[in-house]
Amino acid sequence: MLLHELFRVVGYVPHAGQREFHECDSRFKLLIAGARFGKSLATAHEILADILSGKTRGWFVAPTFALALPEFRYLCDAVRELGVRPISLKEAGRFGASAIKLPWGAQALTVSAHRPESMLGEELDWAVLCEAAHVGRAAFERYLRPRLATREGRMVATSTPRGLNWLFVLYGRVIARVLEDWRAFRFATWHNPGISSDEIESARKALPADVFDEQYGGEFTGRSGRVYAEFSAHTHVREGLQPPAGEVFFKAVDFGYTNPFVCLWAALDHDGRLILFDEYRQSAATTSTHIAEIRRRDDALTQRGYLRGPCWADPAGRLEREELQQAGIPTIAADNAVHAGINAVRERLVLRNDNTPGLMVAAACHQLVREFESYRYEEGEVGREAVPLKQDDHGLDALRYLCLALKRRVDWRDVRQTW
Ligand SMILES: Nc1ncnc2c1ncn2[C@@H]1O[C@H](COP(=O)(O)OP(=O)(O)OP(=O)(O)O)[C@@H](O)[C@H]1O
Ligand SMILES: [Mg+2]
Repeated sequence: MLLHELFRVVGYVPHAGQREFHECDSRFKLLIAGARFGKSLATAHEILADILSGKTRGWFVAPTFALALPEFRYLCDAVRELGVRPISLKEAGRFGASAIKLPWGAQALTVSAHRPESMLGEELDWAVLCEAAHVGRAAFERYLRPRLATREGRMVATSTPRGLNWLFVLYGRVIARVLEDWRAFRFATWHNPGISSDEIESARKALPADVFDEQYGGEFTGRSGRVYAEFSAHTHVREGLQPPAGEVFFKAVDFGYTNPFVCLWAALDHDGRLILFDEYRQSAATTSTHIAEIRRRDDALTQRGYLRGPCWADPAGRLEREELQQAGIPTIAADNAVHAGINAVRERLVLRNDNTPGLMVAAACHQLVREFESYRYEEGEVGREAVPLKQDDHGLDALRYLCLALKRRVDWRDVRQTW
């Protein structure tokens, strides 16, 4: 059966971009596209023919088990549409390998690239590398690629771009036809006709231009120079900035001894703007010194009618977090994903519809302002993901934790609860 006939049977109607991708019969294919383009749906259907062609074995490899699930589920749906009853079907979700086995012995399972050693010792007929830009180069080159050698298996790698990392280098080599058996396809989110143009335009307004170009345009946008290029003291810093009366205040902590220990205090105003109104920064002091100072400032705020909200802290500081907990300052282990955290801060820095930014800093937080202005990426060596230069950036680390946490949480202004 031809591939497009197979697609018709399972009710999959690829859009033009997906069709172009499916029509190419290269052994290795790279599908780079903006978010929601339909990468997962297309790749799951791409290997449908392999699954049906006999006793084949293949993997959906992703940075975590959870990230391989969309492809796995799309494949299971298509198998169901075909009226095939699997011999076994195990959906382990985020916590382990999901697997499907069909009556003729074909198998597909999800694999986490988090521990690349787990990829040793298997021969594969096909592999799908999901969210490839988030998978380490070694996992791809040293562990996954050799699995395909004995059976001359094929591979599809899909991703939204993410800085100028190894995937960008691979993409460049494919485009330049250095790698003969590879083909690359690159599309934007709006090539999926199912995504409304309003949705695209609202993202274009909300995101910094290079983030939008990367996440929606599917472009490899390198970054150089200042990490927070949108930040300007003129726009983002105000004298005497205070949160509105009665608001919940948050804290974010980055631990340090030789490097400074930093605690930031922040709140959301009535427009959802993040107001950073106080900072504490101290090197070479014990945790009990920090605890005393945090308590003093917290108490002063609660006496003025503010409500104590959550505190996010560096996830690496387990012992320090325990000490804070015992002193009555509970903390939540923050998400330390640098790239995502930087984007979350930048999203707040951009001007909103009312021409004001989503984040303002009180002039009293002068160390944080200094960090904002000096924080830079390392000179971009092509082939490596852009990483910020290591310098005194601990206030900005704390701010990353906070912005990422707020992005993922419900509206805290509705949570009239003390912590
Ligand atoms: N050809 C198609 N026909 C119908 N719906 C489609 C098609 N392609 C994609 N979609 C729909 O678009 C949405 C995004 O698809 P999919 O999850 O495959 O995108 P993605 O690029 O993998 O997204 P993400 O960036 O979130 O991983 C889904 O709701 C999917 O059902
Ligand atoms: Mg996907």
